[in-house]
Amino acid sequence: KRIVVLISGSGSNLQVILDQTREGRINGTVAAVISNRADAYGLTRAEQAGVDARLLDHKLFADRESFDSALIELIDNYQPDLVVLAGFMRILTPELVRHYQGRLMNIHPSLLPKYKGLHTHRRALEAGDDVHGCSVHFVTEELDGGPVIVQARTPIMKTDTEDSLQQRVHTLEHQIYPLAVEWFCNERLTLASDGVQLDGTPV
Ligand code: GRF
Repeated sequence: KRIVVLISGSGSNLQVILDQTREGRINGTVAAVISNRADAYGLTRAEQAGVDARLLDHKLFADRESFDSALIELIDNYQPDLVVLAGFMRILTPELVRHYQGRLMNIHPSLLPKYKGLHTHRRALEAGDDVHGCSVHFVTEELDGGPVIVQARTPIMKTDTEDSLQQRVHTLEHQIYPLAVEWFCNERLTLASDGVQLDGTPV
């Protein structure tokens, strides 16, 4: 399977996916990494892995629609089976989401449907939650609202800060994101009208 990864920053989730494709744990190849920011360290990670690293600066486009049209064109050059959002900090147009329906995934640092949007760790702490985590989901038109594929959780401890919690959740992201990609590449995952199925069973 061919994978295109979209990033805006450090790309540590990208890195584990690059590593696991190289090791053959994920039955696929990363065909390209695309960033909307020139300073994203993930672009360097792609170059170091010998993968096409492409910049598409959203600031050069008049509006979201024209940026996303150019993005679709760039992605489709690589003919991906799967598009992976790994810290891509842009809201997507319905056009783009529909174009990649069933083959577009995101990771979100909360136990969805809790805490869609930003500052999830702070919000979980402020709410006094005793558990927090992360979710991989298929992307639909509702921001952070698509059907969940897999989640990982961690207890919140009295001593936790936003930083410590963020670090612990980040480590969990590195475990579940490559797993979801592996399932997809092995054709074990499907997005049906009534939700996600793994090996034909609802998750
Ligand atoms: C992660 O926290 C992810 O949940 C969020 O963006 C961050 C990306 O981290 N959507 P990295 O660039 O993969 O290190």
